[in-house]
Amino acid sequence: MKLSVIGCGYLGAVHAASMAKLGHEVVGIDVDERKIAALATGVAPFFEPGLNEILADQLESGRLRFTTDFAAADDAEVHFIAVGTPQKHGENAADLTYVNAAIRSLLPHLSVGDLVVGKSTVPVGTAARLSRVITDSGSGAALAWNPEFLREGFAVEDTIAPDRLVYGLPAEGLDTVLSASERAAADTPAARAKAQLDEVYAVAIANDTPVVVADYATAELVKVSANAFLATKISFINAMAEIAEVTGADVTKLADAIGYDARIGRRFLNAGVGFGGGCLPKDIRAFSARAEELGRGESVAFLKEVDAINLRRRERLVELVVAALGGQAYEKKVAVLGLAFKPDSDDIRDSPALDIAVRLKGLGADVVATDPEAIENSRRLHPQLAFTQDVDEALTGADAVVLVTEWKQFRQLDPVRVAGLVARPVIIDGRNCLDAAAWRAAGWEYRGFGRP
Ligand code: UDX
Repeated sequence: MKLSVIGCGYLGAVHAASMAKLGHEVVGIDVDERKIAALATGVAPFFEPGLNEILADQLESGRLRFTTDFAAADDAEVHFIAVGTPQKHGENAADLTYVNAAIRSLLPHLSVGDLVVGKSTVPVGTAARLSRVITDSGSGAALAWNPEFLREGFAVEDTIAPDRLVYGLPAEGLDTVLSASERAAADTPAARAKAQLDEVYAVAIANDTPVVVADYATAELVKVSANAFLATKISFINAMAEIAEVTGADVTKLADAIGYDARIGRRFLNAGVGFGGGCLPKDIRAFSARAEELGRGESVAFLKEVDAINLRRRERLVELVVAALGGQAYEKKVAVLGLAFKPDSDDIRDSPALDIAVRLKGLGADVVATDPEAIENSRRLHPQLAFTQDVDEALTGADAVVLVTEWKQFRQLDPVRVAGLVARPVIIDGRNCLDAAAWRAAGWEYRGFGRP
């Protein structure tokens, strides 16, 4: 199929490359010339394992190209909207400026029978509004909402082989599609949209990927409620860590034990410095804001607590580091291991790790931070911090070490060898990812997070 992808950030660039890999002919469109120039040479403007290889292959195959010219969408039949919906400045709500602008720029290039497919995470009600905009334009195109659940670090894999597909379809004809009767093939906007999406995702569907067909509101809510659930799961275990800290219990053992219950599950129960990134924090805030607009703020009032628990972990970690430094961080050298919000990413949006480095620096500590991929982005935002790519250099002479992103390189550090580099062998494991016994045996004062 001929596809266009509007917005070539994290979501869009991965989507465009993955769709080309699946055999579609794809044009990626973005207003950011630098981003497009980089992508056109096969270089993603962010770190995502495996993506550059796919970009290079697909550009070479001729199935993938990138441009700033919206006219390139003329030839495409299905148009994905993959622009960002960041948090509004000083507010919890999502900023829809880019979504609205993308639709406006796309409208003159739509033809009868085209399908616009929203992938961006939006407040419930947005798709219905945009559908009216598209209908009123007289373009003859329709809209579907098809949320994306990709995780950074596994983005290509999650796009090519998703664990489910969700289609939010136009109201007209939706009943017939949902009843899955023979008449589902009837020529209605919902049936046509479903057929087009089925063709886009033919490979995943052939591999038995479940498809959930729904109305717009359900599709929009699936995405935000999935992220709200994941954030709640992390904050739940972090709340247990807070209790563990005052009782001498071990939150990692607790997570293992409750995780054996299949209804609970062990995944996303890692206590530590909490969640960050470009999705979970802003999505739960936008969800709260939207629920309040709808007069149902109380239904998701718990998300404010989820956010508060998450942010408290950062304060608590800083307290632990200061305590480990003898109550005073001023002019003490602290090695901060990690800046990205999670491993295998250079993303520092709302990163707990970077926040910890900044807070410690604010207390007068001599912070030296290291991260395999996120130094450049961090330096741009916080030039006051000292950075080094060399982990040994960060550790040399440190009065305390704090691990805040669980990169493999950090998990595999040899406690015996690195004990020789630091001034004082004190480590605070903000991700509970190190072998406490091994570090203690090597002479370190090891402090877990929510563990004795
Ligand atoms: C998330 C969702 O997982 C994904 O489905 C959605 O499409 C986008 O948002 P992502 O932001 O890439 O994906 O990161 P994720 O792997 O979910 O991690 C989010 C944050 O939670 C990270 O900061 C991570 O360190 C933290 N986390 C995760 C924990 O603190 N504990 C855990 O047990 C799991």
